[in-house]
Amino acid sequence: MYTQSFNVPDAPGLKSVPTAPSTENSEAQARFDSRLDADGKIEPQDWMPDAYRKTLVRQISQHAHSEIVGMLPEGNWISRAPSLKRKAILIAKVQDEGGHGLYLYSAAETLGTSRDQMLDGLHSGRAKYSSIFNYPTLNWADVGVVGWLVDGAAIMNQIPLCRCSYGPYARAMIRVCKEESFHQRQGFEALMVMMQGTEAQKAMVQDATNRFWWKCLAMFGPPDADSAHSDQGMRWGIKRISNDDLRQKFIDATVPQAKVLGVTLPDPDLKWNEERQHHDYGAIDWAEFWATVNGNGPCNKERLATRVKAHTDGQWVRDAALAYARKQQLKANKEAA
Ligand code: 3HC
Repeated sequence: MYTQSFNVPDAPGLKSVPTAPSTENSEAQARFDSRLDADGKIEPQDWMPDAYRKTLVRQISQHAHSEIVGMLPEGNWISRAPSLKRKAILIAKVQDEGGHGLYLYSAAETLGTSRDQMLDGLHSGRAKYSSIFNYPTLNWADVGVVGWLVDGAAIMNQIPLCRCSYGPYARAMIRVCKEESFHQRQGFEALMVMMQGTEAQKAMVQDATNRFWWKCLAMFGPPDADSAHSDQGMRWGIKRISNDDLRQKFIDATVPQAKVLGVTLPDPDLKWNEERQHHDYGAIDWAEFWATVNGNGPCNKERLATRVKAHTDGQWVRDAALAYARKQQLKANKEAA
């Protein structure tokens, strides 16, 4: 069972984040509240309620792990990309996702949770990552659709996070969103090329769209009524737009893109509602979503095993880097003496 239950006290060796003495808590809380009311930023050195810190660590860790596990379905295609150009683009994209994970782990470190603690959560199966990365990428069209729809959904969710109340998270998201937007466009462009190709290529794009569409709608999280963290997250300025509203924005933005591409979105109930000025859409399979979130999707076990193996196999690199850093430190100390 995947769950997210981090302890957030400072680990030894990490920067300690000041906590107001209990007699001053109400004053510190009032300062925190008024900063949020004024739409200001909370910074690592500021006092913050434990629950705010814990919620941020939970969300940032889930987000960071999604970037890292998200490298796997596409990394799988680097050696099989259809041209040198596509291979170079895919390598750069997968590398970007790794970078996003690292910014996010660093943002969580400013809250007093180390990368080791977070990786331990991921590798032991306690920590969540996005449901979408537990589905297979079966052919080259899937790689294009991951760029177009998965990265498209990620951007829709992440743009509001650039205005998140926690400074380091908000600032990390600015660069992440710029890079994600390239990712989305390269996916769309790769699909456009396929849609001008053979009937078999067009059919591959349609098939990939059929398989990914509903999973991408679920990426935004459960319906607002079932979202455990939304109300508090919105009150704290961590979330700015609700799960359902973001999902709706994504659908409204994607329908015209699908038209340009020439694919059909696999939802017979998808239609423009003049009164709401939004598209209506069919029912999402939430039972399937929760099964996947809880570890029983088609690729959960494979993804986790691959991550654990990569981490274990990389131990010698970390050991060598630490030994080198120690040596450099000794050298610097000697020179300073
Ligand atoms: N996959 C897995 N778990 C999900 C999920 C999803 N798509 N959507 C929601 N959940 C989990 C939540 O983490 C929470 O579980 P927890 O209590 O154990 O942490 C539970 O379901 C209830 O959901 P809530 O709506 O109450 O949770 P949140 O308020 O945290 O909202 C969220 C969920 C919208 C995903 C929010 O956490 C968020 O905005 N996160 C930051 C963005 C992010 O993580 N994106 C992941 C994709 S990143 C990506 O795709 C990489 C890119 O390179 C493509």
